[in-house]
Amino acid sequence: MKAIVYTEYGPPEVLQLKEVEKPAPKDNEVLIKIYAATVNRTDCGFLRAKPFIVRFFSGLTKPGKTILGNEFAGKIEAVGKDVKSFRHGDQVFGFSGDNFGAHAEYMIMPEDGLLTNMPSNMSYVEAAPGTEGSHYALNLIRKANVKSGQKVLIYGATGAIGSSAVQLVKFFGADVTAVCNTRNVELVKSLGADKVIDYTKEDFTKIGETFNVVIDAVGKSSFGACKKLLKSGGIYCSTDLGFLSQNPFLAIWTSIFGSLPGQTGKKVIFPIPKATKADVLFFKELIGMEKFKPVIDRCYPLEQIAEAYRYVEKGQKIGNVVITVEPATNPVITD
Ligand SMILES: NC(=O)c1ccc[n+]([C@@H]2O[C@H](COP(=O)([O-])OP(=O)(O)OC[C@H]3O[C@@H](n4cnc5c(N)ncnc54)[C@H](OP(=O)(O)O)[C@@H]3O)[C@@H](O)[C@H]2O)c1
Repeated sequence: MKAIVYTEYGPPEVLQLKEVEKPAPKDNEVLIKIYAATVNRTDCGFLRAKPFIVRFFSGLTKPGKTILGNEFAGKIEAVGKDVKSFRHGDQVFGFSGDNFGAHAEYMIMPEDGLLTNMPSNMSYVEAAPGTEGSHYALNLIRKANVKSGQKVLIYGATGAIGSSAVQLVKFFGADVTAVCNTRNVELVKSLGADKVIDYTKEDFTKIGETFNVVIDAVGKSSFGACKKLLKSGGIYCSTDLGFLSQNPFLAIWTSIFGSLPGQTGKKVIFPIPKATKADVLFFKELIGMEKFKPVIDRCYPLEQIAEAYRYVEKGQKIGNVVITVEPATNPVITD
C-alpha cells in the first residue's frame, strides 16, 4: 500500500511516499481503507520532534512510529474473527492518538479503539477532522466545568481547537466571546459566538469585561495578561505550556492551594488531554444533531502532504487541513 513514511525527525522534506506492506488485522482488530485524514499540529510536533519532550513518546533519536496521521475517516475493509461491532463496508471515523498511522491507504484499529460509524450527514472529508482539535477543546471545557449561563472567552477561536471550543461551549449553554482576526469574524459568528473581538483592532485583555473561564486555544497569551478578564474564582486554561513553560506550574500551585496567591480565587488549570471512545461517540452525536461541524480550511491529496505540513506549520490554518487518500484528487467523497 501507499504510505507517507518518515525515518528521521526534521522538516516536511523528510517525508517519503513509499510502498509498504498492507497490515493485516488481528482477531480483535479492523483494517480500515482510509479515504481522508488530517495534518494537525500534533503531526507537526512529531515530525520535527518539537518540543523535545515528544522524543520521550516517539523515540529519542528517531521516530518509532514511522507513519503519522491520527485522525481518519474510511471504510472497514476486513475484520478480525472476534470483532462484533463492525462489518466489512462500514464507514467509520476516529482518532488513533499516539499510534498514528492514518497517512496511508490502510490502517489498523482495535475494535474497542476510538472509532465509530460515521454520521450519515457527513462525507469522509468532513468526518476526518472530527476528533483531534475537538477532544482537546472538550478536555479543557470539561476540566474548567463550563456550565450553562457562564461567560467564556476563547482566544484563538479559528484554530482546530478554538473553532471546536466555540461550538462546544455554545452546546453546553455558555455565552461565548471569541477572539480572532478580521477576516474570520463572520466565520466565528457562524460557529455560534455571541460576541467577536477582532484582535487586529482591539486588545482583548482590555475590553473591561470579566469571564468565568478564559480558554487560550492558540497558546499565545498568559495568565498574567488575562487575569483581569477573570471573575473572582474564574479559570484560565491554555493549550500550550506558556512562554516560560509556566502553565503547568501555575496549575500545580492551583491544585495544591486552591487558587493563585492574591488573585481572589482565580485559578489556572492545565489538564493532560485524554481522548476516550465516549468522546468520539459524543462528537458523532453532536454532528448528527448538527450542533458541531469541524471547520475545514483546505484539502491536499496524500501525494502533496509535505505542502500540507508546510501550511499547518505556519500556525494560521482555519480549523483543519484534510488529506484525501483515495481518489487523491476528489476532495469530497460520499460513496
Ligand atoms: N496540548 C497539546 O497536546 C496540543 C496538541 C495540539 C496542539 N496544541 C497547541 O494548541 C494550539 C492550537 O492548536 P490548533 O491546531 O488549534 O492551532 P491552529 O489550527 O494551528 O491555530 C491557528 C489559528 O490560530 C489563529 N491565530 C494565530 N495567532 C493568533 C493570535 N495571536 N491571536 C488569535 N488567533 C491567532 C490563526 O488565525 P490568524 O493568524 O488568522 O489569526 C489560525 O486560525 C497550538 O499552539 C498547538 O501547539 C497543543
